[in-house]
Amino acid sequence: MKKKYAIVGVGVRGISMFVRPLVKEYQDVAELVALCDRNPLRAQVANNQLGVNLPIYTDFDEMLAKEEIDIVIVTTRDSYHHEYIVRALEHGKDVITEKPMTIDAEKCQQILDAEKRTGKKVTVTFNYRFTPYVTKIKELLKQGILGKIFSVDFHWYLDTRHGADYYRRWHAELENSGGLFVHKATHHFDLVNWLLEQEPRRVFSMAKLNFYGPNREKRGERCLTCELGEKCEFYLDLKNEPILKELYLDTEAGDGYMRDRCVFGERIDIYDTMATLVEYSGGTQLCYSLHSYTPFEGWRMGINGEKGRLELSAAETFCKKNSPNFKERVTNLVSQDPYKVAIGIDEEETSDLIRFYPLYGGVEVIEVPRVKGGHGGGDERLRNMMFRGYSEDPLGHMADSWAGAMSLLIGAAANISVKTGQPVNILDLVKKD
Ligand SMILES: NC(=O)c1ccc[n+]([C@@H]2O[C@H](COP(=O)([O-])OP(=O)(O)OC[C@H]3O[C@@H](n4cnc5c(N)ncnc54)[C@H](O)[C@@H]3O)[C@@H](O)[C@H]2O)c1
Repeated sequence: MKKKYAIVGVGVRGISMFVRPLVKEYQDVAELVALCDRNPLRAQVANNQLGVNLPIYTDFDEMLAKEEIDIVIVTTRDSYHHEYIVRALEHGKDVITEKPMTIDAEKCQQILDAEKRTGKKVTVTFNYRFTPYVTKIKELLKQGILGKIFSVDFHWYLDTRHGADYYRRWHAELENSGGLFVHKATHHFDLVNWLLEQEPRRVFSMAKLNFYGPNREKRGERCLTCELGEKCEFYLDLKNEPILKELYLDTEAGDGYMRDRCVFGERIDIYDTMATLVEYSGGTQLCYSLHSYTPFEGWRMGINGEKGRLELSAAETFCKKNSPNFKERVTNLVSQDPYKVAIGIDEEETSDLIRFYPLYGGVEVIEVPRVKGGHGGGDERLRNMMFRGYSEDPLGHMADSWAGAMSLLIGAAANISVKTGQPVNILDLVKKD
């Protein structure tokens, strides 16, 4: 029998990851029965784009009372996830939530308690687990390629297109997103937790806001009305970005959501330069960093074990200098090696590499073919498992609420550690039972 879904939070992610695929690709196994958003104009855009007429609610409880729903999908602003997750569970629904599951320990505890109380289930959509590259790394580690793993060094870079975009929106305020230690790094911490099959225990962190926020001369409140206009290297011309215009500028009257606020605004209180150390239950150490203003976007990871080291890296985009246009500044899926792009070799690569360095010499290179699609093909693979309900999941790709908790709590602990200057024990933050 088809499962019936409803979604709360019909923004760009809600539409692209869930609404469109449910309406267009998964009709044989799933039915989307309603949309809920505090801005009904934005939900109406989804209906218009897809040529459907799904009922639109601004009152979540009314939707749950009136519609027949098996599973609620939560894709609102991060700081509201817990409210909708708990209310859906209390109404006897299972929940699929976007990452981060929530933004701090208190809200996390509310979710864990509600799940236990109701016996219903929360699934967290960690799409990066599903990319073929990461899946291959997981397979190799499970086969014991490194033996016991002693440490991981992991560094993530966001360029000045993608990275800057977090400072234009609600993400730029800690109370909305938990900052990038939670909002963004929950992906990365989940990868490490999942690859290691260990739980984080102790976190020590440092972070600063160096590049964005009130670090430059004051500019306008938003690009639309800022005198600098195209002269600003971070100018976002909403009027000429069709997708953003339709979904955000044209619907602003509904909730006042400005999609183009200044990346140097006074309100910004999240960090852009972050470092953290994590100690794991099995003794492994993680050394992690995140920067949100680098010339290229991608990540590098080294995993060190008793039998050698795995070297992993992926570049996703590269910003071209001094071009004011939001689109022209980016090249997608460039060479794996940012050096090549920097000197002008802008070729698209068809595979990513895993390099295994055995302890005493040599190197083995494993090529993993790239696939197209959102988040390195992870989005589509996740949707297939989620909606088509494949029962086999030998590597444990699907993530439950505890996995959601373990990743977001590293970020939440990091935020505490930055403020106090002290290490934080994860198990002091939540109770499992
Ligand atoms: N897994 C991924 O790779 C990935 C990628 C992008 C976004 N996300 C997640 O998806 C979620 C949505 O991101 P987005 O970029 O679409 O954000 P967005 O701000 O563009 O859209 C959020 C939508 O939720 C609505 N909303 C906000 N608060 C609400 C509330 N209290 N009640 C009802 N509706 C509310 C807004 O009106 C908007 O339509 C976030 O949690 C984000 O972390 C995940």
